Amino acid sequence: MTSPSKKRPQGGITIVVGAQWGDEGKGKWIDWIAGGADVVARYQGGNNAGHTLYVKGQKVVLHQIPSGIFHEGRKCVLGAGVVINPGELVREMEKVAAFAKVTPDNLWLSARAHVITPWHVFMDGRREAVREASSGSAIGTTKRGIGPTYSEKTARSGLRLGDFVNPVARQSWVASMASTVEGFAAHLESDFNSHVSEWEAFAKVAERLAPFVCDAEARVRQCAAGGKKILMEGAQGTLLDLDHGTFPFVTSSSTIAAGACASLGLPPRDVTGIYGIAKAYVTRVGAGPFPTELMDETGNALRERGQEFGATTGRPRRCGWFDAVAMRYAQDVNGFDGVILNKFDILSGMDELKIAVAYEHPELGRIEQFPWNAEVLAACKPVYRTFKGWHGELPKKGGIEALPKEARDYIKAIEELSGIKVVGAGTGPGRDEALLGSDLERLVTVDA
Ligand code: IMP
Repeated sequence: MTSPSKKRPQGGITIVVGAQWGDEGKGKWIDWIAGGADVVARYQGGNNAGHTLYVKGQKVVLHQIPSGIFHEGRKCVLGAGVVINPGELVREMEKVAAFAKVTPDNLWLSARAHVITPWHVFMDGRREAVREASSGSAIGTTKRGIGPTYSEKTARSGLRLGDFVNPVARQSWVASMASTVEGFAAHLESDFNSHVSEWEAFAKVAERLAPFVCDAEARVRQCAAGGKKILMEGAQGTLLDLDHGTFPFVTSSSTIAAGACASLGLPPRDVTGIYGIAKAYVTRVGAGPFPTELMDETGNALRERGQEFGATTGRPRRCGWFDAVAMRYAQDVNGFDGVILNKFDILSGMDELKIAVAYEHPELGRIEQFPWNAEVLAACKPVYRTFKGWHGELPKKGGIEALPKEARDYIKAIEELSGIKVVGAGTGPGRDEALLGSDLERLVTVDA
């Protein structure tokens, strides 16, 4: 039994969370911080995520495997709170194998994680079509089967990875779904026609993954107790959190820092650092309220210059000004020790920049607190403060103080208006195009 007075692990547990609506550029920073970690664990989401990295000069997009896989000797984990598309995972393992070893020694898949099957993917598309037809307001999901897989998990009828790789348990799950879920068998027959080969392929994938499936949470706890450094990698972002985001325009998992401990079965008291990643402006993919969205030339310019197109679906991202109301909320929910602001280079060349400091609602008046109700948020207009922009190339290395004065003023305003501490800034897509505050330096070890 664990004694309550047990000392905290020496190595520490760091959680990295998206502070906005996802796509904040977490991949690059997680990849970098991973260099100093022993274990890198994804804690939620599935292949709806897309982490873009540049490895040996080549662009690599990872949807499921943590980016720590590119650092030799790191253990990479998909925790219990993750949902796994097994076929896609095998394909991704093959892609990574061109750059790094992927073995049961460095990739641990939680037996507790739930499996996304072709049926869940089909249901995602169908539910979106029903939403669109009935109310004209689809969520704009990635159609990767995420919502239906988490729904089945919560209904306690999902398929866990540990059962998926066991042929008897897998068949029994298929049989039970066929007998309890209306249309499951018919769906297999009509839509998969190929249902036989689909499920046969599934069996092959299960065989391939079986050696990687383990009690990953127990292993991670053992690593933490042994003084190893653990990095917990979030996907999507705070405002897409199932409970705390802009429901129903959210993803189906717990994206916030607290979700990390729940997923990996780690005591929250052992967490030693929580860092948020945000953009120096804001983007959102899919439907849902977005008060600072720019539907004009400035928004188009941000999209083009920032190459704001989804890493998973290729959809154009909606772009807008930095929102200090939303960032204050993200700070409150996550308790960030520090926030890294990405994509400063995209703002270079703009004469002026705006930050939303509050909202104005037609009936409720001025609102300073991020509303719980998506309809209220949708009716809010931002109250802006305007700042002078900067021109020219930004430094790619060094500290934040290397930025031009206007950029430093912009950061200072963000800190004051959002109640956050900015500890790093991204000034380009490359792995080392990053300006670090001193707090962050201790976390970051760059591999040669
Ligand atoms: P789902 O996660 O596919 O169910 O999609 C739900 C919402 O989350 C949609 O608005 C998606 O666009 C959004 N979403 C899901 N994954 C990501 C991501 O990795 N980045 C940004 N948005 C995402």
